[in-house]
Amino acid sequence: MKILEPVKFKNLELKNRLEWLPAVSLLADEEGYVTDELIARHVARAKGGFGLIDVEATGVNARKSPKLLRISDDKFIPGLKKMTDAVHEYGCKMTVQLIHYVKQSVKTGWKYPIEDFPIANGEVGKDGVEDSIAAIKRDFVAAAIRAKEAGFDGIELHAAHGYTLSSFVSLLNKRKDQYGGNEEGRGRIVTEIIEECRKVLGPDYCIGVRISGEEFVIGGNTIKHTPKLGQLFAKAGADFISVSAGGKTEDGAWYKGYSGSRCMPPANLPEGCHVYLAEAMKNGLREIGSDVPVIVSGKIPSLEYGEDLLDKGICDIVGVCRPALADPDWITKQVEGRQKEIQKCVYCNLCLEADQRHEPVICYVAEAKKKAMAAKAAK
Ligand SMILES: Cc1cc2nc3c(=O)[nH]c(=O)nc-3n(C[C@H](O)[C@H](O)[C@H](O)COP(=O)(O)O)c2cc1C
Repeated sequence: MKILEPVKFKNLELKNRLEWLPAVSLLADEEGYVTDELIARHVARAKGGFGLIDVEATGVNARKSPKLLRISDDKFIPGLKKMTDAVHEYGCKMTVQLIHYVKQSVKTGWKYPIEDFPIANGEVGKDGVEDSIAAIKRDFVAAAIRAKEAGFDGIELHAAHGYTLSSFVSLLNKRKDQYGGNEEGRGRIVTEIIEECRKVLGPDYCIGVRISGEEFVIGGNTIKHTPKLGQLFAKAGADFISVSAGGKTEDGAWYKGYSGSRCMPPANLPEGCHVYLAEAMKNGLREIGSDVPVIVSGKIPSLEYGEDLLDKGICDIVGVCRPALADPDWITKQVEGRQKEIQKCVYCNLCLEADQRHEPVICYVAEAKKKAMAAKAAK
């Protein structure tokens, strides 16, 4: 199967075309350092057969957010290096998703005040963090340098869902300067970060971008806009585009409104519900003669399903998140014909609810089953 065969793009030589998608774990400690629990989580998926793991959203700036994994200071490098070393032992590559976020509250209608940027360079907000455009770019570039030092095989700029870069690329960005307007303007901060990272990371280091193919909010990006953004990112030097969906907070709440729910599609949505978003991105890239790989995500039910997408040329890498949170051996069990043994994800999103309560993100169905089995064995 093509999905299980090696593939190479840039410095990334993957043993197969399967990525464990980024998922906030809340397993970092209060300050954002890697813990042994977090390493164990990733080692289990590396052992379980993934060619690539993209580590959860990892903070490039110093703003408070308990238990968010961080790369905002050199002090985080040793812990991150311990994690990449452990995962590499199993022939699995590791990228890190770099996230920048600003303050967001119900008072501002959950909207990032993206029109308020830039505050003057050097000026800091009430929490002591500088939010100028220059500072955002500086934080990403510094984090990218640390990522390479920490042994990551590449970086992914988080321009999906409801955070800073996503708010820039969104059609809801009403800025009147060069960082707003058409796709070129809205995507400018991302293209500039790609170009600046490229200068410091060298020509072969992998730089990718994750974007919401559709934002699923009134007035937001749709597939009319996002392939154009993908084209701009590819032209600026991006090495892959990972296509997610929704995740905006403009519809009222943190991953609780319709857009939020499309980001982690629940049980009522069909399998492969976001395949068309990856397909639109792939076609957009083809239009400009780009072969930059596209990563698909969203309720991919099996290796066969992923293989079909590869055969049809819809994507280049198949991304899976919750099914492998439920069962780290999701791949191996399918390869070995042990499908019946898979602890299936039922898309109940209790994992997401744990995230929203700031508790460790686990699969409650898998944990309940483990407890029941242990109780049975003890009888
Ligand atoms: C608890 C939880 C945390 C997540 N955290 C992130 C994240 O940090 N960055 C990101 O881009 N996507 C994140 N996602 C979205 C996933 O990467 C993925 O796109 C989504 O779950 C759909 O894939 P799936 O159907 O295979 O689970 C998260 C999803 C869940 C359930």
